[in-house]
Amino acid sequence: MAATGYEKQGAAYYVTTPIYYVNDAPHLGHAYTTVAGDVLTRWHRQRGEKVWYLTGTDEHGQKIMRTAETHGVTPQEWCDKLVSEAWKPLWEHLDIANDDFIRTTEKRHTDRVKEFVQDLYDKGEIYKGGYEGPYCVGCEEYKLPGDLIDGEGEYAGQKLCPIHKKPVELLKEENYFFKLSEYGPKLLELYESNPGFIQPESARNEVVNFVKQGLQDLSISRSTFDWGVKVPWDEKHVIYVWIDALLNYATAVGYNENPEKFASTFPANVHLVGKDILRFHAIIWPAMLMANGLPVPGRVAANGWLMVGGEKMSKSNLTGIKPQDLTSHFGVDAYRWYFLRAISFGQDGSFSWEDFSVRYTSELANDYGNLASRVAAMVGKYFGGSLPEATAAGEAERAVQEGLAKAVAEADRKIGDEIDFQGGILAVFDFVKQVNGYLTEQEPWKVAKDTSPEGQARLATILYTAAEALRGVAVLLNPVMPRTSQALWDSLGAEAALGALAEQRVQDAGTWGLLPAGATVTKGAVLFPRLEEKKDQ
Ligand code: MSP
Repeated sequence: MAATGYEKQGAAYYVTTPIYYVNDAPHLGHAYTTVAGDVLTRWHRQRGEKVWYLTGTDEHGQKIMRTAETHGVTPQEWCDKLVSEAWKPLWEHLDIANDDFIRTTEKRHTDRVKEFVQDLYDKGEIYKGGYEGPYCVGCEEYKLPGDLIDGEGEYAGQKLCPIHKKPVELLKEENYFFKLSEYGPKLLELYESNPGFIQPESARNEVVNFVKQGLQDLSISRSTFDWGVKVPWDEKHVIYVWIDALLNYATAVGYNENPEKFASTFPANVHLVGKDILRFHAIIWPAMLMANGLPVPGRVAANGWLMVGGEKMSKSNLTGIKPQDLTSHFGVDAYRWYFLRAISFGQDGSFSWEDFSVRYTSELANDYGNLASRVAAMVGKYFGGSLPEATAAGEAERAVQEGLAKAVAEADRKIGDEIDFQGGILAVFDFVKQVNGYLTEQEPWKVAKDTSPEGQARLATILYTAAEALRGVAVLLNPVMPRTSQALWDSLGAEAALGALAEQRVQDAGTWGLLPAGATVTKGAVLFPRLEEKKDQ
């Protein structure tokens, strides 16, 4: 944003996911980005910030049109069915708390897209020209000949898209072009003045090098099919699906419609995107905005790919695993946690059922779940479920207090600022390990046998310390695992004592002693049941 000197008014922390193609049902890869955005926005809400989280669907273009044709329905019918039967239900199932869901076939979007493009045309940013080149329908993108790979086997002798591994089509069209080539220097200036604009570093370097080689003007209309938004001054053309799609980030927050909403929300603080669509977001999108005098986003954060058998996970190589197959076995919370925990955001990662099972059992069930149930059980057994006061705190307790403060600061920096989910989650789970170690050393079950006032004071102090530590853990894990965090919150009697979990501020989570003595601690349901038991159910 430094490049335009723009400051948002009233400032909502605005995060977006890509809008997904609805040619098929969502898979693990789509859910990965959407869960990441949900965790990031829940985190910022818990900082007490005003937040806007947007997701949606990309419904125009040749890819959708062909899929609908194959199924013998109109593209609109196809999209309506997929959105209502597959996409929205999955986000609900995964507890995605998006503030809006935009569909590019909605009038609130299409009308504004026309206005935006008309504006560019009026400003002389668009001209008519011809283009011939290899096009990948999977990517909905013209490819540079140098980017293509040679086909083998059934595709021998043909040139393939490096992402979809399918033959490209040679297209020749008279189109409208956006003068993208003129924006190279301004874009480089943007990357220079805002080094965090593209994340991670490797993605930034790739984009900078690409732009340095010189940009070509961009074809922004198509005339060989009509499933799209019509070009307002020449209705034989529809607007290129990527221009249409990128504009969702503006149309969904009131561009040309609700100035107040737009001023307080736009531009996005973070566009979360898969690395496959980084160039659209880090090059074309800011150039479009510059051309129309609008502010550019704060950051484009690219996630790596979930891989299967060494390939980007996609509809065709999913090996049949749906998000629901995993949630029915591991639970929704564990699902949300696993991919962010196991894969460093920005890097590629392979999914394996075995790895998920091992981490679930050791980190969620044993380290975390057991700690929660042991502490609740001991407060029940030794103090009738009423949280005792810590009157005999010493060195060991101070170390736990410091551990919590450190976990809060680190998780807040990593998740909230750096979008490093793995680092943030690890900080919390290191603290969980520390608390487990503390209990192992303090042996409250042995101290309980000492019925002297000193012995009972020690016991009370140990259990208070462990419960208060868990209070902090529940707050920190709430954005990642809202269901089990709420269960823990309830089990600690924290709702009655401190109010709703979502209202707890991250900034306060490390303040020691918030959970009051006398809170009613109950042993709730096991947070992470053993997997074998779940299978038998
Ligand atoms: N419709 C465009 C995006 C337009 S945004 C203005 C599109 N859609 S898509 O359905 O193909 O979804 C792309 C996004 O889904 C990726 O950018 C990524 O965020 C997510 N993923 C899809 N497959 C993925 C993996 N295998 N791994 C990780 N993320 C993946 O492109």
